[in-house]
Amino acid sequence: MAEPYIRTVDLCRYYDRGHHVVKALDHVSITVDRGQFLGIVGSSGSGKTTLLNLLAGLDTPTSGMVDLNGTPLSKMSRRQLSAYRAQKVGMIFQSFNLISHYTALQNVETALYFSTRTPAERRRLAAAALEQLGLADRITHRPADLSGGEQQRVAVARAVVKNPEILYADEPTGNLDFENSAQIATLLTELNKGGLTIVMVTHNLEMAQQEAHRTIRMQYGHVVEGTPSTVVGEKRP
Ligand SMILES: Nc1ncnc2c1ncn2[C@@H]1O[C@H](COP(=O)(O)OP(=O)(O)OP(=O)(O)O)[C@@H](O)[C@H]1O
Ligand SMILES: [Mg+2]
Repeated sequence: MAEPYIRTVDLCRYYDRGHHVVKALDHVSITVDRGQFLGIVGSSGSGKTTLLNLLAGLDTPTSGMVDLNGTPLSKMSRRQLSAYRAQKVGMIFQSFNLISHYTALQNVETALYFSTRTPAERRRLAAAALEQLGLADRITHRPADLSGGEQQRVAVARAVVKNPEILYADEPTGNLDFENSAQIATLLTELNKGGLTIVMVTHNLEMAQQEAHRTIRMQYGHVVEGTPSTVVGEKRP
């Protein structure tokens, strides 16, 4: 059988609060195949963001491991891990993480700093990504001068502009109305059909079931439904 693309084994992330330990993630073992669109649902505080941050190599597990194509992230050198984050991974943060003194265009361009593209090419690609997300007339706005939904769309543009292999999306439609959510859902589905592997956290089970091939549910740091063999929602590519 082919090696899973992304795999976690007994992944744990505990926070020591002195008098007690918060088990934000507790022995989570999942696999994601290349080209798969995995949905993650679960109540607030169930560990979804914690899991995405570990998958993206932005946080370090307390124990257990994350591996990519059979290589544990923990065995990667600092340089390899930076390359993974900068080139392979696109991340849509729940809190957007836009740079406040940069314009929308400059925020999207930051995702291309690590590529070999010229500044003019970076600008053209960033502008095209913003245009695709309906923000052509907002490229010179700074985050404070954008609505929540517009900031979210800038964050989506920044995550996809570098044409990553994997997209980790944390509530990518959390601040959007129906129409804009549907537009992002369509965009993600198209990118997935083009080969992008997607792991998407959402509160919207309906959206997960419509867009994702497979959906897992988290509760209190555990995956309670949707282990590789039993899934909440399954749709073949
Ligand atoms: N730095 C920290 N110190 C202590 N506890 C933390 C820390 N960060 C997160 N937690 C706790 O870990 C748990 C999981 O948090 P996480 O952000 O992963 O939840 P979530 O599923 O993404 O929730 P939401 O849907 O509200 O975004 C929560 O109970 C949270 O309070
Ligand atoms: Mg979260």
